[in-house]
Amino acid sequence: MSYPYQIKSLEQYHQVYRESIENPEAFWTTIAEHFRWKQNPERTLQWNFKDPEVKWFEGGTLNITENCLDRWAETQPHTAALIWESNDPEEHHRILSYKELLFKVNQFSNVLKNNGAKKGDRICIYMPMVPELAIAVLACARIGAIHSVVFGGFSAQSIADRINDAQCNIVITADGGYRGNKEIPLKNVIDDALVQCPSVQRVIVLTRTRIPVSMIKGRDTWWEDEIRKVETSGNPFVQAEEMKAEDPLFILYTSGSTGKPKGVVHSCAGYMIYTNYTFVNVFQYQPGELHFCTADIGWITGHSYILYGPLSAGATSLMFEGIPTWPDAGRFWDIVDKFKVNILYTAPTAIRSLMVFGTELIDRHDLSSLKVLGSVGEPINEEAWHWFDQHIGKGRCPIVDTWWQTETGGIMISNLAGITPQKPAHATYPLPGVQPILVDEQGNKIPGGDASALVLPSETISGNLCIQFPWPSIIRTTYGDHERCRTTYFSTYDHLYFTGDGCLRDAEGNYRITGRVDDVLNVSGHRIGTAEVENAINMHTGVVESAIVGYPHDIKGQGIYAYVIFNGHIPDKNLVAQDIHQTVSRIIGAIAKPDKIQFVSALPKTRSGKIMRRILRKIAEGDVDNLGDISTLFDPAVVEEIKMNRL
Ligand code: WT7
Repeated sequence: MSYPYQIKSLEQYHQVYRESIENPEAFWTTIAEHFRWKQNPERTLQWNFKDPEVKWFEGGTLNITENCLDRWAETQPHTAALIWESNDPEEHHRILSYKELLFKVNQFSNVLKNNGAKKGDRICIYMPMVPELAIAVLACARIGAIHSVVFGGFSAQSIADRINDAQCNIVITADGGYRGNKEIPLKNVIDDALVQCPSVQRVIVLTRTRIPVSMIKGRDTWWEDEIRKVETSGNPFVQAEEMKAEDPLFILYTSGSTGKPKGVVHSCAGYMIYTNYTFVNVFQYQPGELHFCTADIGWITGHSYILYGPLSAGATSLMFEGIPTWPDAGRFWDIVDKFKVNILYTAPTAIRSLMVFGTELIDRHDLSSLKVLGSVGEPINEEAWHWFDQHIGKGRCPIVDTWWQTETGGIMISNLAGITPQKPAHATYPLPGVQPILVDEQGNKIPGGDASALVLPSETISGNLCIQFPWPSIIRTTYGDHERCRTTYFSTYDHLYFTGDGCLRDAEGNYRITGRVDDVLNVSGHRIGTAEVENAINMHTGVVESAIVGYPHDIKGQGIYAYVIFNGHIPDKNLVAQDIHQTVSRIIGAIAKPDKIQFVSALPKTRSGKIMRRILRKIAEGDVDNLGDISTLFDPAVVEEIKMNRL
């Protein structure tokens, strides 16, 4: 087996990039030929960024699970599809071959059908990182149900909002989950959420931790009991549902600068082709290699590079239930050594959290199996890049710095491992098929910022990062609210998809993403909307008003700094801060808890009442002498007070 569209040299990259711009349709048509279609596509692309409307491979029908499972179960049935490593190093790992995984996905597809699931239904999945999570996701895809995976760290309220937005009728969960030395009561959280969710008719509960759970008659059923029912009923094979290319495959919620999280919708064919193409090219995957992506399947990285990308390529994907620092900070190196991992794809925040432990735990392990390292989720600082390169890659593994987003579905800008040049802290070149462009605030194109023009800037330039041509896994809509999709991504600049990121481009053509230019924070690689956190804090009875900004954090990349106006006397700041933490955990989840809470008597506002975040950001960053013009403030004196009491 080989991948005919795998780029093998720098010259070829440049040639293919050029072809992909000159004739994008021909470029993607050729790649699409390497997949299993039920009906071949008739039209490659129809699009406008105004409505927006993007349709790839129309007329084509397929099922992504036939591409991820059946075709490999036929040609390489005994190849491991998934290798699962428990949170607990003492618990035995599990290996599922393509044949076994297909069997289990079929079984669970039957379970879903028995519980009333149909094509087009929305199914919420709230599970720990166990193989059954992968099985549940793939079973939804097999029967044409739209999965909406919610990360296991989100609160009951967040789950309820997501279930209600998508009107899910089924929830798949587990009694509990393990993360390090913690046990998370997943089913209890679901029970709290479902009080608010009338659309849910069935809850399927996997046994994992055996923490006591309440099972509601007529609604809740055990995974294992359901499997037993289908086992006794004979042949488990399930004909994969015939899906139109543009039918939705899944919804994944992500935060923005305003309002509640939006449900990003991805489609069946485009998403499959793009995750496969990027997986094969960026990581330069070779058959037989072991790919370890350390993300959780609750985030887009897990969807695309634990499940769909690797499996659609017939690869072996390692799925890890635990965390990098438990039982000790050598856990990743342990796993790399134990399974002889070839590709390690992780996040800068994980790298930084491990750097502080020194190299002793690394030196105890043989990391010589590693061939390629990868980074995703936030800008990687040079120090972390070099540490990763030296201590993990031993100076002999290319590092791919992959820039992309939940909305892009797959990697957009990245070096190709060992093929195109790498540069520390730079995502470098766009993948063939991707047309980034830099614009100024007014939307004017910055000379040298347009990759498709094939002209390099004479010096490093800076702008807002947009994409000017569709790629197959571009966001199709925000679930239930297409207008929100249009205003969020396609209205800032005419005829461009706006990423929300600031970006530099050097004279060699390398792109360097510098971070969000909107009110979105990136905390440990997770996207958090400032408005969302403010709303959560404001739910606390004593809070009058709050403002959230990000500040540089050694490990998380960005930390959350909260300025809070509290009603009346504060008897004990620590106690009140704890209550605010508890409130945020309840409303959003522990990942959104502020790192610092400063109580203030007022916030810097313009005369029209708008909070001047620029000033708050500077103070949080410690840059108190460069606040710029504050004369337009309603009450400039508050700035002095805030500066003085800065944490
Ligand atoms: C935002 C997207 C993509 C999967 C994980 C995060 C930032 C992501 C990089 C990178 C610099 C990066 C951007 C982007 N980001 N990768 N390699 N270099 N910044 O997905 O939650 O949708 O967040 O993460 O700011 O917009 P997400």
